[in-house]
Amino acid sequence: MTTNQSTEPSPAGILQMGTGFWASKILLTAVDFDLFTLLAEKKQLTAGELKQTLNLHCSDRNVFDFLDTLTGLGFLNRAGILETAAYSNSPDTDMFLDLKKPTYVGGMLKMLNNRLYGFWGTLEDGLKTGKPQNEAKHGENLFDAIYKSPELLEGFVNAMSGIQVGAFMAFAQKFDFSKYKTLTDAGGSSGLLSMVVANHQPHMSCVSVDLPAVTAIAEKTITKAGLTSRVKAVSGDFFNDAFPTADIVTMGNILHDWDEQQKLSLMKRAYAALPEGGAFIAIENVIDDDRKANVFGLMMSLNMLIETGTGFDYTFADFTRWAKQVGFSSTSLLPLAGPTSAAIAIK
Ligand SMILES: C[S@@+](CC[C@H](N)C(=O)[O-])C[C@H]1O[C@@H](n2cnc3c(N)ncnc32)[C@H](O)[C@@H]1O
Repeated sequence: MTTNQSTEPSPAGILQMGTGFWASKILLTAVDFDLFTLLAEKKQLTAGELKQTLNLHCSDRNVFDFLDTLTGLGFLNRAGILETAAYSNSPDTDMFLDLKKPTYVGGMLKMLNNRLYGFWGTLEDGLKTGKPQNEAKHGENLFDAIYKSPELLEGFVNAMSGIQVGAFMAFAQKFDFSKYKTLTDAGGSSGLLSMVVANHQPHMSCVSVDLPAVTAIAEKTITKAGLTSRVKAVSGDFFNDAFPTADIVTMGNILHDWDEQQKLSLMKRAYAALPEGGAFIAIENVIDDDRKANVFGLMMSLNMLIETGTGFDYTFADFTRWAKQVGFSSTSLLPLAGPTSAAIAIK
């Protein structure tokens, strides 16, 4: 990632990574302030205008430093300097961090700011005890703990959509759906994967299954997208209820939440819901078999220590071993977007 490639040892990479949380927190704070949404609407603003609109009570110097760091990091454009500067969005922040655009991915960044930034602060405790460091710290199931609060529930659902949308779009376009007609997405959250597949594959009908707290949100989203004839949201507990039968069963970032026995139990339930030739597909940050190239996947696995304690991300070799144990006849890996792949097992 940032290791020194030259032959001479240098502290530069170490110090850059060590202070990396400064840059991260500056970006997350800007997202939390909806700064990029404001700039998308106003096109450009001065530091003074931003200070007033965002209701900041620090010094002008602090505001310049905040905005100029965002400029230096490539998230803002700037014409002029200090009092004369006009700030505007970069192409990336304008497309992906304007709350009013369908391409918005800030839900995940807001969850990183409002939940995970603090929880990762006790990674040491997580590693020393093996216990989650979040709302579930005192023994509750993560989903029971966060779904009690409507704000946390909504934030979590938005975050899931933000992190997976690119991978789901790639999946809907790259996977060969020609042999299949129906899809069950287990743990489908807002129904995003089902909606993206239905949009790109007009012959497919999809069912998104999730806990009752999430179903109402999914139903609203599916209705808003005008896809109710081909996408249904149903309530179900994937450890206790049989999955709706389908030609394809997908799970996006589901297996990584659970320990190995629970992973196997979910894969067995998927197997039972499929016909011969049916496909079980896990869309996750599948770690490379050598466990060092997909650093994001490795960090996501540590994020599962923080979030669930016993969950972990896995390699394609792990997936293949489990798939064989369950009875699937073959497996393959389809790279999707960035660190995310589809691990596919055929019945
Ligand atoms: C990490 S999120 C992944 C959401 C979505 N599949 C994605 O890829 O973004 C895990 C999902 O599993 C759901 N879930 C957790 N326990 C469940 C259970 N016992 N039965 C059904 N869904 C469950 C959660 O509500 C949540 O939507």
